[in-house]
Amino acid sequence: MADSSPITVLVTGAGGRTGKLVYKKLKENPNQYVARGLVRTEESKQKIGGADDVFVGDIRDAESIVPAIQGIDSLIILTSAVPLIKPGFDPTKGGRPEFYFDDGAYPEQVDWIGQKNQIDAAKSAGVKHIVLVGSMGGTNPNHPLNSLAYDSFQSRMRESVWKRKAEQYLADSGVPYTIIRAGGLLDKDGGLRELLIGKDDDLLQTDTKTIPRADVAEVSIQALNIEEAKLKAFDLASRAEGVGAPTKDFKSFFSQITSQF
Ligand SMILES: NC(=O)c1ccc[n+]([C@@H]2O[C@H](COP(=O)([O-])OP(=O)(O)OC[C@H]3O[C@@H](n4cnc5c(N)ncnc54)[C@H](OP(=O)(O)O)[C@@H]3O)[C@@H](O)[C@H]2O)c1
Repeated sequence: MADSSPITVLVTGAGGRTGKLVYKKLKENPNQYVARGLVRTEESKQKIGGADDVFVGDIRDAESIVPAIQGIDSLIILTSAVPLIKPGFDPTKGGRPEFYFDDGAYPEQVDWIGQKNQIDAAKSAGVKHIVLVGSMGGTNPNHPLNSLAYDSFQSRMRESVWKRKAEQYLADSGVPYTIIRAGGLLDKDGGLRELLIGKDDDLLQTDTKTIPRADVAEVSIQALNIEEAKLKAFDLASRAEGVGAPTKDFKSFFSQITSQF
């Protein structure tokens, strides 16, 4: 720790599958962090304990997120447009499901406008560091995330493309940042794997293209305290459990990253 007093950290998407792990980890370390969460609904707030440090707001509505962001030192962005499976898909028949997004909740609105709103609000509030979690696949227009449910809304549904636009906006914002582009997320235990850094989606061509959400949460939090994580953007995946040594030294880990975008 560079600083002995706790830093105030807001995680957005705190009711999401990775966001709630980050929120919990922050709360478990009150000597290091004053935790805050941002969720979209009162229902999500109750799901993660309903504490006063959980704010309710919609990232598409810039005004609604200002109270959560005022007074924080660091922001971890874990919001995402959530693709929904079209009714009628039968997994027993094989094939790939078709996806759709709710009206007004397309990647353009959530991953671009919504993330831009968070970055703008954080910059205005003098936030010192923004950690943005997104996905691998942004360099490849044929990645499944970019070709969800081709139809007349195609251009609005290119998820990774809108995320990439927000990443660029952050990198250009002047606020110190860490951009984490995660591989396929697994609901498995964290701290048991060797973590891998990649660039430009190269890990997508390998057998090591997934990572537990718990490890993504840990890397997001470690980035807050380690100078070597700042002004860096990288792909993140992991080896299988039992292959290689679990990553423990995060200063060395972040030092390997050479890419600023
Ligand atoms: N799934 C994968 O395999 C994969 C792979 C690589 C990277 N990623 C990326 O990793 C990150 C974390 O993924 P995850 O699966 O843990 O996330 P998730 O469970 O889908 O959570 C996303 C969160 O964003 C919130 N959100 C959506 N729209 C919002 C809005 N307008 N205002 C406020 N909050 C809003 C949702 O709130 P509600 O709870 O209210 O819906 C939800 O809590 C995402 O950026 C994702 O794209 C995912």
